[in-house]
Amino acid sequence: MADRIAEKRVGVLGTGEVGRRLASGFRGRRHEVTIGSRDPEKPELREWLAAEGAGIQAGTFAEAAAAGELVVLAVLGDAAEEVIADAGRDSFAGKVVIDAMNPLDFSAGFPPKLSISGEDSLGERVQRALPHAKVVKAFNIIGNPYFVDPNFSEGQPTMLIAGNDAGAKRTVTDLLADFGWSDIVDIGGIEGSRELEAICIVWVKIGGLRGAWDHGFKLLVG
Ligand SMILES: NC(=O)c1ccc[n+]([C@@H]2O[C@H](COP(=O)([O-])OP(=O)(O)OC[C@H]3O[C@@H](n4cnc5c(N)ncnc54)[C@H](OP(=O)(O)O)[C@@H]3O)[C@@H](O)[C@H]2O)c1
Repeated sequence: MADRIAEKRVGVLGTGEVGRRLASGFRGRRHEVTIGSRDPEKPELREWLAAEGAGIQAGTFAEAAAAGELVVLAVLGDAAEEVIADAGRDSFAGKVVIDAMNPLDFSAGFPPKLSISGEDSLGERVQRALPHAKVVKAFNIIGNPYFVDPNFSEGQPTMLIAGNDAGAKRTVTDLLADFGWSDIVDIGGIEGSRELEAICIVWVKIGGLRGAWDHGFKLLVG
């Protein structure tokens, strides 16, 4: 476990299971968290903020992005570019941005396909949309209940990350360690999102076959 990292202001864009889980994880480690939504007053969000989300502030996507020294993108993959535009690109400049999203296309049913594939990925699109931010793909290959303290009966899975900025990846590695991850592998530049987003499809397929979602992937070496 890494030494506890300095408290940060964190903006989490997204109020689904992923946004809430990550917001709680950061808050539980004493970071100052603002969670962003199209409608920060919506009753289900207000109920969560009054209970499990106590101590977390809520705002618009723009307010959450502006509030964070570090920003997490955790919205519906196909809405990501619109959310970034709504939030205002300048609010991300110079910041570490964690992209936890997957571009999933359920139009032909289950299992989903990638809505972006081939020589592109959502991670790369996010980095192109935010040329002055340091985007790191992380958390997208595991179910949200395991984002924090990812302990399985057979040990810990591997967290794979990708991004262009080495310093940003060190920051995210430290944050992951603080969330309880001991096996973190950096697969290179943000173009690695192509493979990481494809791994999500494999993860979902296996979940469908198993009828359960308590699985993760482990890199074994040697
Ligand atoms: N579920 C998992 O365990 C898991 C694990 C790893 C990665 N992921 C990825 O993480 C992301 C978030 O997943 P999720 O399960 O939390 O829920 P989700 O339903 O994919 O996303 C919910 C969030 O997206 C926003 N959103 C939805 N449609 C929108 C639109 N048309 N325009 C603007 N914003 C929109 C919602 O905004 P409002 O707040 O305004 O409603 C909400 O904040 C996805 O990309 C998913 O693939 C999921």
